[in-house]
Amino acid sequence: MVRQLGVPAGLVEQLAMTSRNASPRIHNTSHDGDGGWFMPTIEKIPVALLNEPLEYIFAYHFHQRVVLATLQHFAEEASASRADADTIKAFLTHDLVLHHADEDDDLFPLVRLRALPEDGLGTVLARLDDDHRRDETRVEEIVRALTRRTEECSVRLSKGVCEMIQSYVTDKNHHSAVENGVLLAIARIRLARKDLKAISRGMKARRGLTH
Ligand SMILES: [Fe+2]
Ligand SMILES: [Fe+2]
Repeated sequence: MVRQLGVPAGLVEQLAMTSRNASPRIHNTSHDGDGGWFMPTIEKIPVALLNEPLEYIFAYHFHQRVVLATLQHFAEEASASRADADTIKAFLTHDLVLHHADEDDDLFPLVRLRALPEDGLGTVLARLDDDHRRDETRVEEIVRALTRRTEECSVRLSKGVCEMIQSYVTDKNHHSAVENGVLLAIARIRLARKDLKAISRGMKARRGLTH
C-alpha cells in the first residue's frame, strides 16, 4: 500500500491557508524505495517574496513543517534512503542556518525594539532565542547521523538518534507555531514599512542579493 507523508494538520497549516501571500507548493515526486513511501519535493521559496520578509519567513515555516514530518518518518523507520537523507541534510545545513540568522539578526531585534510592554513579548523572545541555541547541538547530531557512510544505500539510525530526532521535531513544531501565532502576528502590527525594508535588506544580503 502506498503511504503518503502525513503532514499533521495544525495551527501552522491553518495559518498557511490563510496567509496573505505565502502559498508554497509541495509535490510528492520522489521515492525512497523502502516500500512505497514518498518524500515531498519542496519548491524553493520565490526570491521575490524577500520583498515581504514576514511572508517569506511564514513560507519557510511551512516548508520546515514538511522537513520535520520527513524526519519523523526517518525516526519511526530508524532509517532513511541516502537520497532523502542528503536532501534533509542540505536543508538543515543551508536553509535552516539562513533562517535562524534571518530571525536572530534581523527579525527579533526589530520586533524587540518596536513591541510595546503590553505585548508581553520579552519572555517569548527569550525562549525563542534559547530554542535556537539549543537546536544547534541537536541539528549537528542529526546531520552527523544522516551523513554516516556505509556500504548500504540507506542510512540506519540508532535508537538514541531516533529518540533525539523525535524530541527535536516536537520542540521545533512548537517553536514555529509560537513564531507564527504570536511573533509574526505582533510583528505585522508593530513593524513599520521602513522596518520591513530593513529586514528585507538583511535577508537579501545574507543570500548574496543586492536589491
Ligand atoms: Fe526560530
Ligand atoms: Fe522560524
